[in-house]
This record gives sequence, C-alpha cells and structure tokens, in this order.
Amino acid sequence: MVVIRSIARSELAAFARLGGAGASADRLETELAEMWRSGEGRPEWCLLAEVGKLMVGRLAMAALPVGCGLDTLEHRLVVPWLADGTEDAEQVVRGLLEASVAALPPGAQTLDARLNAELRPDLAIWRGALESSGFTVFQEKQGFLWTDDQHPPSPTPRLRFRTLAEVGGDAYAAAMARGIAGTLDRNDRHYVGLCGPDGWGREMLGYLGPGDDTSWLLADDPGGSLVGYVALSAFDEPDTATVIHIGVLPECRGRGYIDELLTAAARAARARGLRHIFSDVDTENGPMLAAMRRAGHDPDARGWHIWHYRLSLG
Ligand SMILES: CC(C)(COP(=O)(O)OP(=O)(O)OC[C@H]1O[C@@H](n2cnc3c(N)ncnc32)[C@H](O)[C@@H]1OP(=O)(O)O)[C@@H](O)C(=O)NCCC(=O)NCCS
Repeated sequence: MVVIRSIARSELAAFARLGGAGASADRLETELAEMWRSGEGRPEWCLLAEVGKLMVGRLAMAALPVGCGLDTLEHRLVVPWLADGTEDAEQVVRGLLEASVAALPPGAQTLDARLNAELRPDLAIWRGALESSGFTVFQEKQGFLWTDDQHPPSPTPRLRFRTLAEVGGDAYAAAMARGIAGTLDRNDRHYVGLCGPDGWGREMLGYLGPGDDTSWLLADDPGGSLVGYVALSAFDEPDTATVIHIGVLPECRGRGYIDELLTAAARAARARGLRHIFSDVDTENGPMLAAMRRAGHDPDARGWHIWHYRLSLG
C-alpha cells in the first residue's frame, strides 16, 4: 500500500537526494532549506510516497510572491520525482497531488506544475496524473537553439540600437511595457493582468544579470521612434545566452521588424563571446514561432518542451 506523508526537518538531506547524489542534489538541499527559512516552503509541504520502507515518489510545494509589490502568493509544485519501475506510478502521483492540494493554505487560488520533457522520461505518467486530478494546460513552451555559424551577421538596415547602459532602466522598462500589449504569450498575459503593463515592465528588470546592460537593446527607426526591444542575457549553461524577452510595439507589428531584432540578438551574443542562444516560446505565439525558425533557431535541437499545468480552486 502506498502511504503519502510529509517529511520531518531531519529528513531534508535524504529528500533532496532521492533523484541521486551530487552537485545538483546539494544545490536542491540548499534551495529547500532557504525556502523553509523564507517561508516559501515548509517541511509539511515536502511529500514522500512510500511502499513499506521503500521511497517511490516525491513532490514539494512552494508559495511564491507574484511580485510587483502585490501581496498575492502563487503556489507551485516543485521537485517531482518517481522511482524507476514504480508500480501503479500514476496512482502514486495522484496521491502526491491530492496530498498537496489538501496542504494548500485557505484562500489559495491556484496550484501550478511545470514539467520539462527534456528532463522527464516519466513525463507521460505525470501528465496523466495531473490531467486526471483536474489540472489543465495553462501554457506550453517550445525550446529553440541557435548556434553561431560564424558567418558575417545579416544587416539590420531599418533599426538603430541603444543599450540599456545608455538609456537606463526606467526607459527600458517603459519600452517593455509598450511592447507587451496584445501578446500571445499566455504566461506574460497572466502577469500583465496582475501587475499592469508598467508593473510588468519594471518587474522584468529583475532578470537583468551581470554584463547584460550591453545586450539589452532598444530598437529605433532611423527617425528615432521606438520600434521594439530585445533583452539578451547569459543563460545558466556554458557558452549560452537566452532571449529574456523581445517585443515590437503594436503599431509597428507585421513589418518583419522581429527578424532584425533577432539578428541583433545574435550579434549581441557573439559580442559577448557566447556561441549559443537558447530560448523558449509559447506554442500559441504563432508570429514569434515563425520568426524563430526564420532566424535559424532550431526547435528540434533539444527535447526542451515545457508543460505548464494549473489547478484553479474556488
Ligand atoms: C511576436 C512579435 C515580436 C512579432 O513581431 P512582428 O515584427 O510584428 O512580426 P511579423 O512582422 O513577422 O508579423 C507576422 C504576422 O503576425 C502578426 N502579429 C504580430 N504580432 C501579433 C500579435 N501580438 N497578435 C496578433 N498578430 C500578430 C502581424 O501583424 C503579421 O501579420 P500579417 O502577416 O498578416 O501581416 C510581436 O507580436 C510582439 O511584440 N508581441 C508581443 C511580445 C511577444 O509576444 N514577444 C515574444 C515573447 S517570446
């Protein structure tokens, strides 16, 4: 029989190492301990599935602030793990999900789960359990990999670029607030709905990392009117950048400016000595998906595909 229980504080190290020991398990232990300290996590929200003395599944919950100065918390399922060859695995996951929902604090509106196909050989089991437990797909994102072929960069004749270092954070945030209008990205739409475009733009500055202020670019037409922006940052993988966000102002859309912005991103990656750009795009954002393909960002180079599920409560 499968028993689901939360862990004691003393079990944190073992809980973090269920997927295997090593540097990533060490990091996970530190992150969970930090979440317990900050209140974003709790031992009661770290759930184990056991059959006798055998640990067969793990799931934890986090309560994360939505940002932009709001008190609202969003609850998210994290660190999913299933032992290889677990019998009735989908049933085990359903048990973990049911216990997570039961542990939600009163007033919680949603519970999210993000699964990345690249990291989850057991994806079908988790998706099956989520869907039969009332979760629905909130967003799907496809990963794209661009690799520098060292050819001379394409020209960007219709745009002039200024860096965030030149224009400052306020102007950059204001440009992002204008460029996000009418987005087809479901997650961005959700946060713009909560924060408003100006709050969302300011919040995005939180993704600015060291060295990024020369590769977060504003784009103007030759007359000096703002057309859009592309924010290229270092990605947490060797030799790799990522497009944190990219946008064309609504009044400038439909003229292919996105192609020149992606060219500028490639140039900026090269200038930073980064050979790859890895980014993901909402599968409902047709114009952006098409632009990525045109610019040589390959959706098939990796298995990265995010399934973002949400349970809506109340
Ligand atoms: C995605 C985006 C950058 C595309 O820029 P663009 O320069 O207009 O792209 P294109 O010129 O290739 O447009 C292709 C077509 O899609 C249409 N289109 C572009 N953005 C659209 C949108 N948000 N909603 C509906 N249609 C859109 C264009 O009007 C054009 O239509 P047409 O072929 O009938 O003329 C732009 O829509 C945008 O800034 N969106 C908001 C931010 C966003 O989604 N960023 C990507 C996050 S990963």
